[in-house]
Amino acid sequence: MSDPLDFVVSQGDRFRSELYDFLRIPSISAKSEHDRDTRTAAEWLSARLAAAGLTSEVIQTPGHPIVLAEWRGAKGAPTVLVYGHYDVQPPEPLDEWHSPPFEPTVRDGRLYGRGTADDKGQLYMHVKALEAHLATRGSLPINVVVLAEGEEEVGSPNLVPFVAANHQRLACDVVVISDTGMFAEGLPSLGFSLRGLAYFELHVQGAKGDLHSGEYGGAVANPGNTLARIIASLHAPDGRVAIAGFYDDVREWDKGTRAQINGLPHDDNAYRADLGVPALTGEAGYGTLERTWIRPTCDVNGILCGYTGQGAKTVLPNRAMAKVSFRLVADQTPAKVRKLLEAHVAKVTPPGVTVSIAELHGGRPWRAKVEGPAFDAASEALEASFGKKPVLMGGGGSIPVVVDFEEQLGATALLVGFSLPGCNLHAPNEWLSLAYFDKGIETLTRLYTGLGKKLPR
Ligand code: BES
Ligand code: MN
Ligand code: MN
Repeated sequence: MSDPLDFVVSQGDRFRSELYDFLRIPSISAKSEHDRDTRTAAEWLSARLAAAGLTSEVIQTPGHPIVLAEWRGAKGAPTVLVYGHYDVQPPEPLDEWHSPPFEPTVRDGRLYGRGTADDKGQLYMHVKALEAHLATRGSLPINVVVLAEGEEEVGSPNLVPFVAANHQRLACDVVVISDTGMFAEGLPSLGFSLRGLAYFELHVQGAKGDLHSGEYGGAVANPGNTLARIIASLHAPDGRVAIAGFYDDVREWDKGTRAQINGLPHDDNAYRADLGVPALTGEAGYGTLERTWIRPTCDVNGILCGYTGQGAKTVLPNRAMAKVSFRLVADQTPAKVRKLLEAHVAKVTPPGVTVSIAELHGGRPWRAKVEGPAFDAASEALEASFGKKPVLMGGGGSIPVVVDFEEQLGATALLVGFSLPGCNLHAPNEWLSLAYFDKGIETLTRLYTGLGKKLPR
């Protein structure tokens, strides 16, 4: 067999069963009790890359390992860096899964399991597309570096410095990432943006210990009440973030991009009904897609305070904590948002408590140049596989290292994702369409060919 695309079709069953093996390894980066599993996943992936014909190694970091694989046999040809992550989010709540999170299960053409879409399934598409070229042609049309990390879901604390310290080894022309989704089934998509992230914990401290709420209530500040006031002060009635200066660095998008966004086949009512909410809300003056792609936000991710067990306990708790994160857009930075938040909290905190702010992690927002040979190659590969020209879409989520790739390596990033809306990223019953697993491999196989032809030598 000499055609890589024929190879992909002929090996479909094997590719899938290998993916199931990958998915069975619970590489939950956030939980230290899974450190062993996370390492096992790195080793498993590295072995598959080596079997595909790349030179691969597992590189130790202070946290979870980095997998770095290379194939540099295309002398004089450009270099493509493939980035993905082999770590996954914790699966909880477990009782909401219809099949166990780490036992990949097929129902109605969907493969259910943690990491199917985010990101093991999509990362593995690349491994198989590379194998398809190497197995049939004995070579690739481009030089390739595969960089897979095990800490994306915890903010890439060790990858960002690794990229900074390894310019030469990671030098490339294009970075290809499959860690986002398609706008709709049958509608291939290319990403034009990712939001950044600034994630904090607000700790409110009151009296030296819990108090009887009858004996002391009314005379002593309640950290729960105070935290609620602080949280409430973060938004204005028009849905905007009410922190002074928060929008100063927000670059408005051009009319063309906004028109393109608003031309996508999106139906607010269907979206609303699908989510089971009585109404959609958000920043005044922007539609749903704009609110989730090109506008910044502030959200409480968790609150801890007082008695939450069965029945009533009349207690005046002495502390409260909230996890609060901001999604950022160009040109906001986590550092500036931290300063603004600190000033805001100092201003709105009433007397009687002390508040401290801890930063968990951050990532900068990214905006693509949606033109050039790499972009054209991706567009053509998607059209050949899906029979339709791709639409451009934003990404509401964050992939912290993307901006570093562009800044540090001078490469352009291409976001070519294959997960579908409603695929339950980070939630119970995450899934990936099995047909799209195959189509993804096919598309990426074509993409490598296209990059070999289109990128300047
Ligand atoms: N693959 C996602 C990012 C994503 C999701 C981009 C949906 C576009 C659309 C990634 O694995 C992720 O979840 N990132 C985290 C980043 C954080 C932990 C630093 C996120 O966005 O919350
Ligand atoms: Mn991901
Ligand atoms: Mn994720």
